[in-house]
Amino acid sequence: MGDTVHMPDSRAPDFPQRVFSGIQPSGGLTLGNYLGAIKRFVEMQDSGVETIYCVVDMHAITVWQEPDALRRATRELAAGYLAAGLDPARSILFNQSQVPAHAELGWIFNCVARMGWLNRMTQFKDKAGKNREKASVGLFAYPNLMAADILAYHATHVPVGEDQKQHLELTRDIAIKFNNDYGVEFFPVVEPVIEGAATRVMSLRDGTKKMSKSDPSDMSRINLTDDADTIARKVRKAKTDPEPLPEAPGGLEARPEARNLVNIYAALSGGSVAQVMAEHGGKPFSEFKPLLADLAVAELAPISAEMARLMHDPAEIDRILADGAARARVLAQPILERTFDIVGMVRG
Ligand code: TYM
Repeated sequence: MGDTVHMPDSRAPDFPQRVFSGIQPSGGLTLGNYLGAIKRFVEMQDSGVETIYCVVDMHAITVWQEPDALRRATRELAAGYLAAGLDPARSILFNQSQVPAHAELGWIFNCVARMGWLNRMTQFKDKAGKNREKASVGLFAYPNLMAADILAYHATHVPVGEDQKQHLELTRDIAIKFNNDYGVEFFPVVEPVIEGAATRVMSLRDGTKKMSKSDPSDMSRINLTDDADTIARKVRKAKTDPEPLPEAPGGLEARPEARNLVNIYAALSGGSVAQVMAEHGGKPFSEFKPLLADLAVAELAPISAEMARLMHDPAEIDRILADGAARARVLAQPILERTFDIVGMVRG
């Protein structure tokens, strides 16, 4: 069962394997975040590799966040991580703003990355929209801070969904340019880990659009806070075409909605798309959707219930984040000090 964790070969063989990833506390968590990121994070933790997971609150404020809503979303995301199986004894779990090394290294990377590189970032173009003049400077420099998140720990592997691929390529470019400019082999060239059946979970209303917390239609996504009835209803109402499922994976090519539901099923069941097709190929959606709904409810309802339970004790969540931040600072500080030294900053 469960697809075993595959750690691609590191491009930084001289660095010990270390996993880092982050999620923005900017609204609720979706099934996309869960299957594309959190579920993979837990698998990596369970495989025994060193894992560091972050609630990237400083990234969140690159677009406006109400302060109280940000505080709540930060705790809720931490609760989501914990409810999904992150164990703060085995993984470091913290929020970014409690570790100043991220911002400090981020500034240095602002001076390494080139305007032209950032101008090519599709996420900036999407988020800034037509009105680039009104976008925050932070939104533009966002990928430099993301590079700092990763490189402040000399992380070698970064599990993410497909939409973060371009940002990770930029992280690599920053590491390479820094090393070249200063004539050092200091920062590792990181390896994106974009694997599994659900690296791009699509909207339940439109199989060509990514499932996203910012979609105006709540029916387009499953939220990690949805209860069992809501999850089942959203799966039953998911848009599909009138044909039954094809017999083989090739038949999913021009059928984005069908492909999305099969991918979700595969990721939830821990199997491959080929296995799902072998078992369910040829079934009408009226048969397949209830099976998918059962699977989604069985996996997500306990997580949602545990998140709600954890949210009753915010002080405990804050304690876990503070403890994780203290451990993260111990790892990041010597790397930051060495970076300042390489750059030529005088330190007393
Ligand atoms: P964010 O907060 O938008 O999303 C968090 C993670 O969820 C994945 N994801 C998806 N995967 C599959 N299907 C979807 N529909 C879907 N939607 C979201 C994302 O790919 C991501 O892995 N820039 C990052 C946060 C970040 C970060 C980092 C990540 C900041 N620093 C350092 C890795 C390492 C972001 O905005 O993710």
